[in-house]
Amino acid sequence: MTEDPTRPPRAPRAATAGGPGLFVTFEGGDGAGKTTQAALLEAWLRENGREVVRTREPGGTEVGVLVRDIVLHHRGDIAPRAEALLYAADRAHHIETVVRPAISRGDVVIQDRYLDSSVAYQGAGRVLDADDIRDLSLWATGGLLPDLTVLLDLDPAAARSRLDADEKPFDRLEAEKGEFHTRVRDGFLALAAAEPERFIVLDARQPVPELADRVREAVASRLS
Ligand code: TYD
Repeated sequence: MTEDPTRPPRAPRAATAGGPGLFVTFEGGDGAGKTTQAALLEAWLRENGREVVRTREPGGTEVGVLVRDIVLHHRGDIAPRAEALLYAADRAHHIETVVRPAISRGDVVIQDRYLDSSVAYQGAGRVLDADDIRDLSLWATGGLLPDLTVLLDLDPAAARSRLDADEKPFDRLEAEKGEFHTRVRDGFLALAAAEPERFIVLDARQPVPELADRVREAVASRLS
């Protein structure tokens, strides 16, 4: 039997119940469309009979929601090292209590943002060293890296007009100046270039269905 090339690939089922699952993260600047793509990937995996845990950082646990409120909505400065530790604390609790258990059950974890966001955002402040930030996250999570990281790459000016159209109030990071967001973007692209096996980089200006196809292909190849 031949596959219809116009149909999206089927998601292979887990080989054994309770076998290792898959850890997929979405990264990119604010307004790049991560949430839309994560939702489409979740729907496709569920249609194909996979168990899915969809989650995010910061704020994927009860403790994380409290940390998220501090890092995103606290008025006034937070010392850069303190900010990095807050994201790492959220991450440590989230990975231990939500993500690792799901992966060991054989689920697919789809996560909005992970350690690459810390390196790109906290590193973009120019105060902290990118390797230190990465090492901190690896310590916090016992060294867990995603099987696949989808980077939705978008020029910060285009992202800003999407965010403006949303008419939501900006959080602390969204309110940063344009050059900060350019450094964040460059940071993400450098991370992707350093780990080409883990990352796929997609141009976030592409239509939503086309992006979703690319994401499915990448996930399907890692599940088979
Ligand atoms: P996000 O949840 O994507 O925001 P929203 O729900 O408003 O779309 O991310 C919140 C912000 O947190 C985002 O600007 C990036 C920032 N962030 C860091 O600076 N470091 C980190 O480690 C993480 C996970 C996020």
